[in-house]
Amino acid sequence: MSIETTLTMFSLLLQAVSGYLLGPSEVTGAIGGSVIIPCYFNPISANIHGRKFWCKMTRQNCITIISTNNYIAQNYINRTNLVIDRNYFQINMTNLQRWENGIYRCGIGNNNNLNYYNVNLTISGGKNIPYSTVIIIANFKESITINCPVHKNTTTKWNYWCKMNKKGGPTCDMIVNSSGYVHKNFWGRVLIHEVSNTSDFKVLVNNIKINDFGFYRCGTGKFEDGSNWTDIHIHTINPSDTIRHWNSKPLIRSPGELFEVQCKIPKSFLSVSLVYWCHWNETGCLRLIDSDGFIQEGFQSRISMSDRTYTIKISQLELGDTGYYWCFITDGKNIETSSVEVHIIETTTSHYSQTLSSTGNVSFATLLTTNIRQENTTWDHITITERNQTGGATIAQIATVPIPTTNSTQG
Ligand SMILES: *[C@@H]1O[C@H](CO)[C@@H](O)[C@H](O)[C@H]1NC(C)=O
Ligand SMILES: *[C@@H]1O[C@H](CO)[C@@H](O)[C@H](O)[C@H]1NC(C)=O
Ligand SMILES: *[C@@H]1O[C@H](CO)[C@@H](O)[C@H](O)[C@H]1NC(C)=O
Ligand SMILES: *[C@@H]1O[C@H](CO)[C@@H](O)[C@H](O)[C@H]1NC(C)=O
Ligand SMILES: *[C@@H]1O[C@H](CO)[C@@H](O)[C@H](O)[C@H]1NC(C)=O
Ligand SMILES: *[C@@H]1O[C@H](CO)[C@@H](O)[C@H](O)[C@H]1NC(C)=O
Ligand SMILES: *[C@@H]1O[C@H](CO)[C@@H](O)[C@H](O)[C@H]1NC(C)=O
Ligand SMILES: *[C@@H]1O[C@H](CO)[C@@H](O)[C@H](O)[C@H]1NC(C)=O
Ligand SMILES: *[C@@H]1O[C@H](CO)[C@@H](O)[C@H](O)[C@H]1NC(C)=O
Ligand SMILES: *[C@@H]1O[C@H](CO)[C@@H](O)[C@H](O)[C@H]1NC(C)=O
Ligand SMILES: *[C@@H]1O[C@H](CO)[C@@H](O)[C@H](O)[C@H]1NC(C)=O
Ligand SMILES: *[C@@H]1O[C@H](CO)[C@@H](O)[C@H](O)[C@H]1NC(C)=O
Repeated sequence: MSIETTLTMFSLLLQAVSGYLLGPSEVTGAIGGSVIIPCYFNPISANIHGRKFWCKMTRQNCITIISTNNYIAQNYINRTNLVIDRNYFQINMTNLQRWENGIYRCGIGNNNNLNYYNVNLTISGGKNIPYSTVIIIANFKESITINCPVHKNTTTKWNYWCKMNKKGGPTCDMIVNSSGYVHKNFWGRVLIHEVSNTSDFKVLVNNIKINDFGFYRCGTGKFEDGSNWTDIHIHTINPSDTIRHWNSKPLIRSPGELFEVQCKIPKSFLSVSLVYWCHWNETGCLRLIDSDGFIQEGFQSRISMSDRTYTIKISQLELGDTGYYWCFITDGKNIETSSVEVHIIETTTSHYSQTLSSTGNVSFATLLTTNIRQENTTWDHITITERNQTGGATIAQIATVPIPTTNSTQG
């Protein structure tokens, strides 16, 4: 690659990082109903002070509907507005008409063709209309909280979060639901959080991966039934200033040992109203200890949490302690979570004397078998270490093999 292309790519990258503008790629509204379209920008000077606009594509141009230059097109007076907040602006369109289907742009700048995000607005006559459309800007490795509506008029109380799949007709691939299903890509890092007496539930996701971007839905019941749901557009970003040294590798411990993990306290939290650590599973997260002094039964003698950093320490580990540990932290309004995977493994060592290869002079070898329990599979992690006459050691082979859970056939 030439220096010139490298530089061009580098400046494009810088532009993309310093000037993101992100909206929903698809929005659905009902005839006569309304939609709210949020567009997020990072709050740098050019974005804060620039003209915000909402325009509709024709064959050649994007015709301004409303802009912060005090302009509004005749047809939209009294039924469209644009409000600006710190890092986003949103367009409110009411009394929608069928002919308003189409591609729109929300953008920043004096020109409608430079810095914008395309939004496909669908006006539907049917009743399959989302309750709302939200944008989530998710930072790499951090966490997000998704507010999902509950369908009041339904006998099913099942909550779900799924990802839209356009291949072969629109379907929604389940990510997590309250009957205990969790997609493998989100294993250990997603949780449906229900709080009684509230009109919604939350989906908590942490350890965000760049590939988590996309179009999702969450709600109650079956989305095919046209029940209450929210459309969620997740954009993942990796701002260089938020890279933190967070160990996402699993902690490996043996029975009887201990582990210690610190909770990530978000910089944006001025105060903390509750912190707890819990042990994750497919349907919930068992609270082990919290900042109000609660300690789960059976853990009193082996768990502690520091008051300032919310670091937990669990000692006298047992095989059953394997799994994901979540730190849940809230300032009363926002929720942040983080998780760490812990493996408690049994290690067995056996020795045998054998020449393992025709070329080497191996006097003896060590076979280290490590039992790893993961989900519902048990793995044997085998390390064979060879030693020669002078005592030098070489790792000859590493293999991880699943131990069959069903009866293996003979031979
Ligand atoms: C907008 O609403 C105001 C106040 O109700 C009214 O006077 C005006 O005629 C309306 N304009 C249009 C274009 O409907
Ligand atoms: C959207 O506009 C309608 C009509 O002006 C108004 O009643 C409604 O409160 C607005 N919604 C938001 C979220 O601004
Ligand atoms: C906009 O969305 C509708 C409904 O999903 C789809 O049929 C149409 O092809 C989309 N338009 C574009 C330009 O993507
Ligand atoms: C949809 O969800 C919202 C927010 O949770 C709630 O206010 C509304 O009543 C719900 N609608 C139905 C039909 O359940
Ligand atoms: C609940 O759904 C039933 C059947 O669709 C309908 O008859 C009833 O009016 C609905 N109730 C409310 C409060 O929406
Ligand atoms: C939860 O998701 C799984 C996988 O898609 C599905 O088989 C199961 O029926 C769902 N449960 C409910 C109650 O919808
Ligand atoms: C939740 O609602 C039930 C019944 O509506 C009520 O008895 C209970 O006190 C409420 N709990 C809280 C924490 O508000
Ligand atoms: C998961 O944890 C929840 C909360 O502690 C508990 O009620 C539930 O029984 C557990 N489920 C499984 C499958 O272990
Ligand atoms: C193995 O040991 C014999 C005798 O000690 C020696 O002659 C031979 O070179 C060794 N082979 C290798 C590959 O080290
Ligand atoms: C765990 O067991 C269930 C039920 O036997 C099975 O459906 C699921 O695929 C298993 N998970 C893994 C990762 O093997
Ligand atoms: C024994 O192994 C060590 C480490 O691999 C190596 O440096 C040494 O040469 C070996 N000695 C013999 C006699 O093979
Ligand atoms: C495994 O084999 C034992 C003994 O033959 C038998 O009792 C058991 O039912 C088998 N289990 C399964 C899962 O096939």
